Amino acid sequence: MSFLRIESLARRYAPEGPPVFENIHFGIERGEFVCILGHSGCGKTTILNVLAGLDEASSGHVFMDGREVRGPALDRGVVFQSHALLPWMSALGNVAFGVRSRHPEWSRAEVEARSTRYLEMVGLGQALHKKPAELSGGMKQRVGIARAFAVEPKMLLLDEPFGALDALTRGTIQDELLKIVQATQQTVFMITHDVDEAILLSDRILLMSNGPCAKIAEMVEITLPRERTRAGIHHDPQYYRIRNHLVDFLVNRAKDFARDTPDHDPRHPPRVRPGAILPEPLATD
Ligand SMILES: Nc1ncnc2c1ncn2[C@@H]1O[C@H](COP(=O)(O)OP(=O)(O)O)[C@@H](O)[C@H]1O
Ligand SMILES: [Mg+2]
Repeated sequence: MSFLRIESLARRYAPEGPPVFENIHFGIERGEFVCILGHSGCGKTTILNVLAGLDEASSGHVFMDGREVRGPALDRGVVFQSHALLPWMSALGNVAFGVRSRHPEWSRAEVEARSTRYLEMVGLGQALHKKPAELSGGMKQRVGIARAFAVEPKMLLLDEPFGALDALTRGTIQDELLKIVQATQQTVFMITHDVDEAILLSDRILLMSNGPCAKIAEMVEITLPRERTRAGIHHDPQYYRIRNHLVDFLVNRAKDFARDTPDHDPRHPPRVRPGAILPEPLATD
């Protein structure tokens, strides 16, 4: 059984209408980095909120480390689309707040040492005592990342954490995230709509079809070597094959994956290894 297991998840808002998504099944292994790609409105944030315990599915189950998820807890850290920092606290205060909740028995010095270490990891060693209003958008988002990592949760849930940043800042933070994840073996589930970001960071990418009745249409294994850099990844001959496969899904196939796709067993979405073989287009008609 996978470290994180999602079984038969569905969510509907109107009782008589079609579900936003249904038959969502997937697993995430310990130490794995999994991204989910899909068009706006297919239900990615809803799935992430259910994993976080902040929302409830209409049906289905989520298990983490053998236990059913029934509400929010400090074993799952969340980074939201917008930074969600406490405005009256410094960067250090915001990070320490989570660390103190996780380790109430720690001394103030221990809490500050852990918090400082993670703020330094995201390049904010010089901004510990600044309030959110004194920080740029990119710096605020880094504080949010440090806050989630510093709790050292079993699982990190990231909802388009770099979506609001300019391309240069996004690149720098992606590099930092890559370094931290490689150093800590953190298990991560991340939503993005940026194909290149997904390839850079993921071990596996889940492709979600459009809603209503959205599904996980494919799981794509990223066969590029794990030691990746943003500058080097484009030189790997597999890179463009993977990229084309993902873009083709988003542009051509996501919308055709309608309610009753024949021969599609949602429990076993096709596994594609576009780095290793040239993928066949999925028959959807
Ligand atoms: N509170 C709500 N009431 C009704 N519909 C909602 C509510 N929240 C989200 N939705 C609908 O659920 C769908 C999925 O939303 P969301 O999970 O935010 O998608 P994504 O993150 O993939 O863009 C959207 O079509 C949205 O309109
Ligand atoms: Mg969303």
